[in-house]
Amino acid sequence: MNNFEFKNPTKIIFGKDTIKKLENEIPNDAKVLLLYGGGSIKKNGIYDQVKIALANVDVIEFGGIPANPEYAVLMEALKVIKDENITYLLAVGGGSVIDGTKFLSAAALFKGDTPWDILSKNMKTEKGMPFGTVLTLPATGSEMNSGSVITRKETKEKLAMGGPGLFPVFSILDPQVVHSIPERQLANGLMDAFTHVLEQYMTYPIGALLQDRFSESIMQTVIEVAPKVLKDPTDYKAASNFMWSCTMALNGLIQKGVPTDWAVHAIGHELTALFRIDHARTLAVITPSHYKFNFEAKKEKLAQYAERVWNITEGSIDDKAYAAIEKTEAFFHELGIDTKLSDYTKNYEGTAETISKRFTDRGWLGLGEHQSLSPDKVEKIIKMAY
Ligand code: NZQ
Ligand code: ZN
Repeated sequence: MNNFEFKNPTKIIFGKDTIKKLENEIPNDAKVLLLYGGGSIKKNGIYDQVKIALANVDVIEFGGIPANPEYAVLMEALKVIKDENITYLLAVGGGSVIDGTKFLSAAALFKGDTPWDILSKNMKTEKGMPFGTVLTLPATGSEMNSGSVITRKETKEKLAMGGPGLFPVFSILDPQVVHSIPERQLANGLMDAFTHVLEQYMTYPIGALLQDRFSESIMQTVIEVAPKVLKDPTDYKAASNFMWSCTMALNGLIQKGVPTDWAVHAIGHELTALFRIDHARTLAVITPSHYKFNFEAKKEKLAQYAERVWNITEGSIDDKAYAAIEKTEAFFHELGIDTKLSDYTKNYEGTAETISKRFTDRGWLGLGEHQSLSPDKVEKIIKMAY
């Protein structure tokens, strides 16, 4: 096992009817900016619950943060923060609203020329404006981590940022929010969480027995609850297990002491930036070809995953590893998610070259757990996914 340090300061408040606990978490003297997305919270009752809980606090609102939070919109919110002397941020939404709020938390205290530098120079934020979240969509784990991904339409870029100062102070996770989530977003959430685990697990054995079993148990849980959540999002037992699995998949715990990959996400973000494909669906496009291309390097973990997660016990390591890739792709299809780029766009020719050039231009010369996935290899993986 590798050496590691682990600190996750986010307080989680989990369970039925917990949104009202907001009133205990936000300081009375705070001036709060409540941030939300396209308005789903006004239809499903979450907004009303939040407003009741904040009855005694000074609150201003900023709605309209789009899926794949957009830099230009966030710059409007930053102006409100400055003009109104906001001291505390509250994100009510899914990964996009929470990520947008993290950017604002960093930008609000940023002293440099332009907040774009936080993204383009990947500056780590040591201290941000304090913020809490009310999670409305289990998927990204953003509610309990310090990362964020921001989109800039103007330049078709999607860039990551983060730092130890960007953990939410608290996050409220009421699984009843799952009731109103459309099927497409439920499938996206299941897909995203599953891939988060894969990115931190499907590398090479390093003797981290507990981390492996944490990862395997999260994947098993997602596989078990997926059909139940998709069939009936009001099934509280399924929804609560879905929600906690998504949080645990990316709150830092399972990646401690082990090598991680993240190439699927790096490539996937480019597909969202270029074609606006939902984040989770880009992962389904890249994962199978990534594992086939890197088969030799990953086959031991693939075979372990085959045995422990999919109960594939027959055959050689190669047989089991290959069967695991097939099972994984079949699982994505069961979620209703297509796994080829051509399923999403007719204009896919040239995509592999464009993305590999972007990686070269950014100096990203070796992705993956061995930092050996050079832009020319990325190009081949993307072509396999056409
Ligand atoms: O905009 P609203 O009206 O809120 O509607 C949203 C949006 O249309 C809707 N929705 C959310 N909760 C709902 C609901 N509809 C009905 N009922 C509810 N309870 O769902 C749609 C998608 O929301 P979004 O927040 O975009 O989805 P998700 O949580 O999947 O977030 C995706 C974003 O997170 C980034 C992705 O790249 C993408 O930009 N990621 C963030 C990560 C992180 N911070 O750690 C890691 C991930 O790998 C990912 O990259
Ligand atoms: Zn993801």
